[in-house]
Amino acid sequence: MLRIGVLASGRGSNFQAIIDEIEAGRITAKIEILIVDNPNAYAIERAKKHGIPHLFINPKDFETKEKFYERIRDELLSREVELVVLAGFMRIVRKPLLEAYPNRIMNIHPALLPSFPGLHGQRQAIDYGVKISGCTVHFVDEGVDTGPIIIQAAVPVHPDDTEERLSERILKLEHKIFPEAIRLFAEGRLKVEGRKVKIENYRLPEIQFTNPETR
Ligand code: GAR
Repeated sequence: MLRIGVLASGRGSNFQAIIDEIEAGRITAKIEILIVDNPNAYAIERAKKHGIPHLFINPKDFETKEKFYERIRDELLSREVELVVLAGFMRIVRKPLLEAYPNRIMNIHPALLPSFPGLHGQRQAIDYGVKISGCTVHFVDEGVDTGPIIIQAAVPVHPDDTEERLSERILKLEHKIFPEAIRLFAEGRLKVEGRKVKIENYRLPEIQFTNPETR
């Protein structure tokens, strides 16, 4: 049983998608803790509803970012967490956590990396004028959204799209590929070789290329 720790900052719809897949028995894992950096994060309500312990760690309580991440690391290690999942965690992860969990921290990003890293990936895609965007699950390294890519999925960008509409379209696929990547990890099927993530015995699912709800 894979022991997971989730870090989130807000709404937590990706957190919910992961909870649902675990509860449905499709991922053999247990979420040991939800850690938030924002006391108003709706993710906390979701944790309560599903009996998942949660913890608010206030970044302002720490002199440096490194000390903040040392605390997070210690909380995760004390619960024997094996995989750290960033589910809408709006901060750049620093060394103390990265060094404790090499290729064991996963992030979801709302764009097709390496395009449009950082904040507002959906708005960046609209402003640039791309015709296709999507989402990426990747392992986290020291850069901003630069780590080895695990799964991506694409959606069309329509000429009259707003940031909100494109975000909604992308989010539906986020909720599919994030649990999928965690399932593959839990099954021991992800092998990282340099920048590349090899997936053992994997058939590409249709969701990576088509989206029935293009509007
Ligand atoms: C998601 O769209 C996720 O891809 C994005 O924040 C949203 C969180 O939603 N993450 C980033 O932009 C990270 N740089 P959620 O709280 O409902 O899962």
